[in-house]
Amino acid sequence: SAAEKGGWSSFMAKEISEEPEAVAKTILGRVHDGLVDLPELAALGDDVLTGLDRVLIIACGTAYYAGLVGKYAIEQWARVPVDVELAHEFRYREPVLSPRTLVVSISQSGETMDTLMAVKYAREQGARTLSICNTQGATIPRESDAVVYTHAGPEVAVASTKAFVAQITAIYLLGLQLGQVRGALEPERARGLVAELQAVPEKLAAVLNSGERIREMAKWMADTQSVLFLGRHVGYPVALEGALKLKELAYIHAEGFAAGELKHGPIALIEPGQVVFVIVPSPRDPSSLHAKVVSNIQEIRARGARVIAIAEAGDVAVLPHADEVIRIPLASPFFEPLLAVVPLHIFGMELAAAKGLDVDQPRNLAKSVTVE
Ligand code: G6P
Repeated sequence: SAAEKGGWSSFMAKEISEEPEAVAKTILGRVHDGLVDLPELAALGDDVLTGLDRVLIIACGTAYYAGLVGKYAIEQWARVPVDVELAHEFRYREPVLSPRTLVVSISQSGETMDTLMAVKYAREQGARTLSICNTQGATIPRESDAVVYTHAGPEVAVASTKAFVAQITAIYLLGLQLGQVRGALEPERARGLVAELQAVPEKLAAVLNSGERIREMAKWMADTQSVLFLGRHVGYPVALEGALKLKELAYIHAEGFAAGELKHGPIALIEPGQVVFVIVPSPRDPSSLHAKVVSNIQEIRARGARVIAIAEAGDVAVLPHADEVIRIPLASPFFEPLLAVVPLHIFGMELAAAKGLDVDQPRNLAKSVTVE
């Protein structure tokens, strides 16, 4: 009903507006003295966090992309190898697991059958299982050794938005705690990262202000047949998520690519007028990724692509090369995906709306897929 949507045109519009809150509530009560403290992890058993030698993340759909972001962060902060796998692929290839493997499932609903079966399999094989879930008391957390809940609040729109940013937040909290207890993160560095995470909700609120411009862009793109998304590092899963949203909501053929992979194939797709969203790493990042992505933009623009860059405030180097620039506030690399994904969520929703489609209930999809 209109009342349930709280005055918004759709549940999705309401849920996107709740992205800042989803992050804030997922952090709430889990930071003490500037460091992460997830008491839920005690249920994994003694010494599991210090003794584990591998993390394996399993999920489907949008939650899988949150897992991909998590891989970059956990490896960097906790110095433990992390793999991410689609839940439905996982158990059919006899994966190598041990009691020192922590299998982390991510699921908004906690009922996705593919993910549930993967968790059960992992347990049978002797791995430790941790669920990141948005639904209190759902089946997947009940079948896991421990659960860290995301507190995004109920998500009604079929395509996931606020749960995605909450999932990244939860997996970051896990990565930070692992880094802390394993001694891979100096307390000072951990405190700095925690503070950055805590600053995300306010920055997200600022990103929501770009909604009107994105709506205008979506209007002139209503007839677009294909959209590509490029990103690097943690921006790569964001590109995948942006593409998934267009498929799900606007029924448009869309693909996300790692920008470095462009020259190995996808660049052949570029023809005049092709719309390409590019998630641009910060120019302040000491890695050379900003320059590399700007040069990718030049390559596709020279072939006629229409480039929409999502770039940090103050990044002027990108201006001469992009047709449109959507600004996100300054953040260090790991916190960019939380900010850069919001314009893509808005774009997916607005493009579907511009095509007259039902953004909350896309055709052929279910909010939670409880069959294999
Ligand atoms: C369905 C939904 C997706 C969601 C996926 C995983 O396919 O349409 O939006 O990302 O399930 O759902 P889960 O509840 O496990 O996060």
